[in-house]
Amino acid sequence: MNAPASAPKATALASPVPAGPQGSVQARPPTPRPDFIKVESARKVYATGRDTVEAVSDVSFSVTRGEFVAILGPSGCGKSTLLMMCAGLESITSGRIGIDSMPMTGPRESIGVMFQDSTLLPWKSVLENILFPVRIMRRPVRDYMDRARSLLAMTGLTGFEHKKPHQLSGGMRQRAAICRALVTDPDILLMDEPFSALDAMTRDEMNEALLGIWDRQPKTALFVTHSIREAVLLADRVLVMTRRPATVVEDLRIPFPRPRDPSIGESEEFNRLVRHLRGLIERGPRGAGAPPAMAATP
Ligand SMILES: Nc1ncnc2c1ncn2[C@@H]1O[C@H](COP(=O)(O)OP(=O)(O)O)[C@@H](O)[C@H]1O
Ligand SMILES: [Mg+2]
Repeated sequence: MNAPASAPKATALASPVPAGPQGSVQARPPTPRPDFIKVESARKVYATGRDTVEAVSDVSFSVTRGEFVAILGPSGCGKSTLLMMCAGLESITSGRIGIDSMPMTGPRESIGVMFQDSTLLPWKSVLENILFPVRIMRRPVRDYMDRARSLLAMTGLTGFEHKKPHQLSGGMRQRAAICRALVTDPDILLMDEPFSALDAMTRDEMNEALLGIWDRQPKTALFVTHSIREAVLLADRVLVMTRRPATVVEDLRIPFPRPRDPSIGESEEFNRLVRHLRGLIERGPRGAGAPPAMAATP
């Protein structure tokens, strides 16, 4: 097993920190926060009949509590597998995943998950869908009603709680899925291309909604996307994965403070970060001779 130290160190393309007034005492560096999610040399091999597929080869990274980390990588490189291993929904072939210093051995109530499809139950109302995890956990639904209603208000779904999923637009279904993922107030939200099936305008709206939710209910998040701009807008760090079998080739810190407004997408700094990631993705991590990490999506 490789040492976890092989994980790329987070790099920042931020402008240099301005020098303090002459003669002032150098500020002490912030105390490093402990790792909340720690992935160490995680590897996954699927066995299907006589064939085996190495979906994830050697992935190491860590996430501190409250950080929003986006993962970029080509289709089939193992992003969903990695997320499912972090959710405890898929076993790890070798290596280790720890959440809050506890090894991941199975699903946990403290983790919410969102997929590309809202996976709402079509025969249940929006409110019943949002409260579904509460029923699964056999907790009293009445204790969660206020929280469900405030999430509905936060995501602009008040008035739609008794509609069925087919009566909602795609964006509204994903809003309901966010409410469902947050209703039990999990510590961690794992999102697997949650907005990829939406049209561009709805996707922008969803990005704005997610930024708003994050300001009010900050969580620790892993967010898989194909969109470089979406990753830079939403995340505190962006990890770039290579083609299968996947490893992490870049760990980029995004310096924008929160609360964030989508208008930061017009700033030179934002576009510099996007260009850096696109260049890395198009040229590959090791310069011109290396294969590209993925097909770039702006
Ligand atoms: N349950 C499975 N059984 C066998 N192979 C799988 C399974 N799930 C995914 N794979 C394979 O593992 C690789 C990575 O898949 P996945 O994690 O879905 O990638 P991504 O989310 O990056 O598109 C792919 O080659 C895929 O075909
Ligand atoms: Mg996937």
